Amino acid sequence: MFTTTLGPLHLRSPLIAASGTVGSVVDFAEVGALESYGAAVAKSVAPVRWDGNEPPRLGSSGAGMLNAIGIQNPGIDAWRAAYGPAIADLPVPVWGSAVGGSPEDFAVVAEGLAAAGVTAVELNLSCPNLEGETMFALDPKAAARVVERVRNRVDTPIGAKLSPNAEDIVAVASAVADAGADWLVLTNTAWGFAVDIATRRPVLRRAVGGYSGPPIKAIAMRCVWEVGQALPQLPIVGCGGVTNGADVVEYLLAGASAVAVGTAHFAEPRVGARLSKELGKYLKSHQTTVSDLVGGAEPW
Ligand SMILES: Cc1cc2nc3c(=O)[nH]c(=O)nc-3n(C[C@H](O)[C@H](O)[C@H](O)COP(=O)(O)O)c2cc1C
Repeated sequence: MFTTTLGPLHLRSPLIAASGTVGSVVDFAEVGALESYGAAVAKSVAPVRWDGNEPPRLGSSGAGMLNAIGIQNPGIDAWRAAYGPAIADLPVPVWGSAVGGSPEDFAVVAEGLAAAGVTAVELNLSCPNLEGETMFALDPKAAARVVERVRNRVDTPIGAKLSPNAEDIVAVASAVADAGADWLVLTNTAWGFAVDIATRRPVLRRAVGGYSGPPIKAIAMRCVWEVGQALPQLPIVGCGGVTNGADVVEYLLAGASAVAVGTAHFAEPRVGARLSKELGKYLKSHQTTVSDLVGGAEPW
């Protein structure tokens, strides 16, 4: 009833814990409901340690969350030493997430993650391209170069995580698929900004940050829909604003084969257990399965 397929991977559940919201996964095991997910994605890792941005780097705006953490991480060697040995004992398949400033950076991290024993590698393409002018995920050619380099270096299944800020998300999706991505994650956060009216300062020290949570659901859903319509063979993990079982069903109907949940973990660390229950209720009452729902939105 719950099983789903993402290219070469078979998942016991379509629910995925999104990168950056469950730490290394290892250190989320005590507070989260890891057994509820088909996979959990660790925080993105770079080739060397990144200290992240200066606070304030988290804030809220409306029903959403703003962050400019700056992908604070210990670097792949330290990450592998700290978490690699614990991965196999967790009650969920762990995926790694790679970031970097060049295709080679991503390849080095992907090799380290694969050696640490992750089941799959997500490429967080929503970070600045140090060799170019903008983030990888906004530029089909730059994004494809990253995927191609990683594809040539690891056998691990690869997911490419794109940005809703891309001008033409279908063009980026098509380029990374041609370069060897096994699936897409749609999407990362959307650029956002807020001002604190008491201090008159931007909520985030860096002013602009990543906006997440319920207000971005329709934006990420639009990406899933457009890419799903244009490239129906390419598996998609929908991601953005999921807080209940109905959101999960919506993403599946729009064309996602799996659905990642992120920001909801901050208010409700065990949200995966509730989502699983609510999805199960829907499947039972509608006498359907996850695979039957995928791309099942009816035309007008
Ligand atoms: C505090 C925070 C940190 C995040 N860090 C990462 C990260 O390291 N790598 C990544 O690919 N996505 C990261 N994300 C993005 C989420 O994985 C997810 O794509 C996004 O928040 C949209 O989903 P949501 O609305 O369910 O949170 C982060 C999100 C938040 C809120």
